[in-house]
Amino acid sequence: MNLLNSFSFALPTKIEYGVGATKSLVDVIKNENFKSLLLVTDEGVVRSGLLKRVTDALDAHQLKWKVFDRVEPNPKDYNVQEGTGIAGRFGTDCLVAIGGGSPIDCAKAIAVVARQGGAVRDYEGPHKIGPDVLPLMAIPTTAGTGSEVTFSSVITDSTEKFKFSIKDPKIAPRVALVDPEMTLTMPPDLTASTGMDALTHAIEAFTANASEPLADAAALYAIELIAAYLRSAVSDGHNLEARAGMLLGSVLAGIAFSHSDVAAVHCVAEALGGKYDAAHGVCNAVVLPAVMQYNMEYCKERYARIAVAMGLTYENVDDGARQAVTAVQQLASDVQLPAFGSLGVQENDLEELAANSFKNGSNIDNPRPMKKNDYLNLFRQLTG
Ligand SMILES: [Fe+2]
Repeated sequence: MNLLNSFSFALPTKIEYGVGATKSLVDVIKNENFKSLLLVTDEGVVRSGLLKRVTDALDAHQLKWKVFDRVEPNPKDYNVQEGTGIAGRFGTDCLVAIGGGSPIDCAKAIAVVARQGGAVRDYEGPHKIGPDVLPLMAIPTTAGTGSEVTFSSVITDSTEKFKFSIKDPKIAPRVALVDPEMTLTMPPDLTASTGMDALTHAIEAFTANASEPLADAAALYAIELIAAYLRSAVSDGHNLEARAGMLLGSVLAGIAFSHSDVAAVHCVAEALGGKYDAAHGVCNAVVLPAVMQYNMEYCKERYARIAVAMGLTYENVDDGARQAVTAVQQLASDVQLPAFGSLGVQENDLEELAANSFKNGSNIDNPRPMKKNDYLNLFRQLTG
């Protein structure tokens, strides 16, 4: 247990949760007296009609806005650069990110570069971000990333094909409008992959070396909600209660991992996403059970508690820990996540993938130490 360790806990983001909460964006903007909004989003959000829902509300109150909708999945450094240019030319005084993790993470990076200059990678690593950051409001349209409440942004260096993070409480959105209705249009495969991302956040946060009690509480409730609602959110996308359960689960998981950390699953997922531009949630889901097995001896009691959160009963701690891994595997299979083979990982890339996993900033928080060779063995086990 970590009850005697000190910790501090601050949540810079105000969370406005509720069915229809998106409507309060206008009040938030008016209260803060923002004049020129840049809406950061992607083509999927535009196609789904979700962007129009927001712009109609802004138009009804004669608020001035512009859209940057060219954010790609696994947002690239050049997306940040382009958005920063638009923000500057438009005289933006507030960013509104509408979408999944990609638009929200991209907007966090724009918020820094637009005010502090340079290139986004200049801000990798601790204590690089000064106080002057564009204010950001976030409206999540997926239940997975938790980016609407986290302090980090993951961006792909398009030259190195490497995902790096910028991390600082100053880049957390000022307000998150968390509205289950905004997730109703997500197709089943995206619901499944983003939902498994949220589950991975919660499990890694709960078992990370940096775990702490308030984050633990958020993580366990997140696991409970995701285990209870992911299957129904995938099979019946119009089930508003299931969507609400998943969205709350992903917010709680986001709070958990931004105060604790993620670990080896994300180190591998980010290496894979950087190299192959693969869906982040799929990358997590295909490696999560294998990493849980690897970590087993180091966090059996915690796995047993995860089993309880997933609604299981067990004979003893060993049995509970094993059941947690099986239940995670079963959940990924029930929501039809593709297998590891679908990522098209090449034997020739394994050394590079292992090296990039090892140098990820979250590697240090995996409960069982992992060297580059351990990542290589894991990749061999998954591809074998
Ligand atoms: Fe993630």
